[in-house]
Amino acid sequence: MSHIVVTGGAGFIGSHCCVELLQAGAQVTVLDNFCNSKPEALHHIAKITGICPALAQLDLCDESAVSSFFAANSVDAVIHFAGLKAVGESCRIPLTYYHNNLTGTLHLLRAMAENGCKTIVFSSSATVYGMHNTAPFTEDMPTSATNPYGWTKQMIEQILMDTAAADPDWAIVALRYFNPIGAHPSGLIGENPNGIPNNLVPYVARVAEGTLERLSIYGDDYDTPDGTGVRDYIHVVDLAKGHLCALEYAKTHHGFEAINLGTGNGASVLEVLHAYEQACGKSLPYVIAPRHAGDIATSFADPQKAKSLLHWQAESDLLTMCKDSWNFTLQQHP
Ligand code: WQD
Repeated sequence: MSHIVVTGGAGFIGSHCCVELLQAGAQVTVLDNFCNSKPEALHHIAKITGICPALAQLDLCDESAVSSFFAANSVDAVIHFAGLKAVGESCRIPLTYYHNNLTGTLHLLRAMAENGCKTIVFSSSATVYGMHNTAPFTEDMPTSATNPYGWTKQMIEQILMDTAAADPDWAIVALRYFNPIGAHPSGLIGENPNGIPNNLVPYVARVAEGTLERLSIYGDDYDTPDGTGVRDYIHVVDLAKGHLCALEYAKTHHGFEAINLGTGNGASVLEVLHAYEQACGKSLPYVIAPRHAGDIATSFADPQKAKSLLHWQAESDLLTMCKDSWNFTLQQHP
């Protein structure tokens, strides 16, 4: 049985990935410092799968803790989610983001290499496509960023590319997520950010449950069918399954590959709002607000490389994603 370490495994995408790994028969250890997640996530994973993942509570910025862990444990592969990820916050505290995301990754990679573990799947982001590419985005397009968070993703991809180029023993897949939303159908795990959500769907969920008054739509004058921003929303369970396909691919392919995980379909803010209204059975109030600086009009994936290399494609539609999100939201306040 493979032993897979999941950094940030108590988080939104990490916890869904742990569920799929455990159900596929892997041994799972979560490395997490719970700075943006809760230990209860591991109990929810156990309730879904019947198995509680092992836990190593540590901060990747603590180099001695990271190297001690890998020296004491035989690890077959790592899925690396751990990192700070709020775009706006990254503009306010860039040094914290560069230290946490880059230094943590460097400690991880060094400890892995020193202990013979050279397989990693990295949680990258469509944000690396920046503002100068035109959708559908393909993996060969030039990358850039518009904020420190996005730069950390782009820089980590560069670190991984250089690592693989210097040592052919490495097998590295950088998965570029588009917009992960939804929740596990059990409703036990999902997206529940602390404070006021930055992202669209968790914000809409709070409006639907009545804890936020209305949605502010950031601009309705984009060059899109209804004027609101278009994104490629992908079910978090589909995304998690893509990670298992990437691990399988890495078993027989060394080197570095960047691969999109998206549906290939775009949906506007208004389309998401209406899908959520259908999912929750309520009319959801909104106002049109000014555009957010740095927002692009349209982002969606060309999903062909994932299909051909990973034999993976997203399956859930937008209504299902909204229904699963609403089901999770309802279970937060039984
Ligand atoms: C989606 C659409 C907004 C909130 C961000 C990060 C990216 C990635 C995914 C990690 C946009 C609009 C949003 C609101 C709105 N995260 N919106 N009102 O901006 O595509 O990407 O999350 O990798 O790095 O940048 O996702 O969910 O924030 O916004 O109108 O209250 O909804 O303008 O068009 P985004 P989002």
